[in-house]
Amino acid sequence: MTAADSEATTTQPAADRVALAVVGAGRMGGAVVEGALRSGTLRAQDMGVFHPDEDRRNALAQRFGMVALDDAGVHRAERVLIAVKPQSFERVAPLIARRHTAYVSIMAGVTLSTLSKRLGSARVVRAMPNLGARVGVSATALAWTAETSADDLEFARSLFNGCGSVFEVPEALFDAFTGLSGSGPAFVAVVAESLADGGVRVGFHRDVARELARHVLLATAQLLESSDPASIKDEVASPGGTAIAGLRTLERHRLRYALIDAIEAASERAGELSGNGQGA
Ligand SMILES: NC(=O)c1ccc[n+]([C@@H]2O[C@H](COP(=O)([O-])OP(=O)(O)OC[C@H]3O[C@@H](n4cnc5c(N)ncnc54)[C@H](OP(=O)(O)O)[C@@H]3O)[C@@H](O)[C@H]2O)c1
Repeated sequence: MTAADSEATTTQPAADRVALAVVGAGRMGGAVVEGALRSGTLRAQDMGVFHPDEDRRNALAQRFGMVALDDAGVHRAERVLIAVKPQSFERVAPLIARRHTAYVSIMAGVTLSTLSKRLGSARVVRAMPNLGARVGVSATALAWTAETSADDLEFARSLFNGCGSVFEVPEALFDAFTGLSGSGPAFVAVVAESLADGGVRVGFHRDVARELARHVLLATAQLLESSDPASIKDEVASPGGTAIAGLRTLERHRLRYALIDAIEAASERAGELSGNGQGA
């Protein structure tokens, strides 16, 4: 892209330098932006959004109240959040790569070493949020290169604190984190769906059963704030009662084994995808 093209397509003033350029404002990138706005970490005018298609970037900019950026605008940004699909990264990287710029990536399976190589900058933070970001309760893992500055790290921490809690995790455990925390909402959603199916089986209408299952999960999640899972189970399971009868059935059908295995399988899959650079 020439300077003239850049003038023609960009909507941001030439001198403007946003604090954060967002490359990929989809489901997860959008959730991180909304978290930053909600928590007051950044104001809309501190952020800009990049998309190679001008109409698309203008629409995204309007949706979030941010500036629309072309690739020159991304180059001027203080920091860049990369939230495109991992498969798009090879195509996007040459457009946004810049020595000394600080990058924060949420792409599953794209390692710090690959990020640094493709972006030409060693200032890279890798993050793994989960779907909870949409409602401000994500658990987000962070790992970073030795060249990342204390300011860059603090910035990443506050960005992801805006959409939940932050866990500093060695990069070697990112696949494990993805298996438990990234994939976990899908496993728990299956549990919720199955509880509702059980409710239908014993006579409730589907919508009532779903609502009851939701409340069971909500109550358990809140109790977990102050109790451990085993204590909650023991409290509900009174001698010779209903819960212990159900628990025995769960043991017979090996629910624990199934969940442990699911997390192992998801972690292994994350590793395979990191290995071939196609994490998702
Ligand atoms: N979803 C999750 O639970 C989750 C959890 C942890 C991490 N992640 C990671 O988050 C990333 C995004 O996932 P997602 O679920 O949010 O996907 P998504 O909704 O498809 O978002 C990707 C966004 O990137 C945009 N885009 C595509 N090519 C682009 C380019 N060249 N430049 C700038 N923007 C471009 C897309 O725009 P168009 O719609 O126009 O193509 C879309 O808005 C992935 O790397 C994923 O591994 C996701």
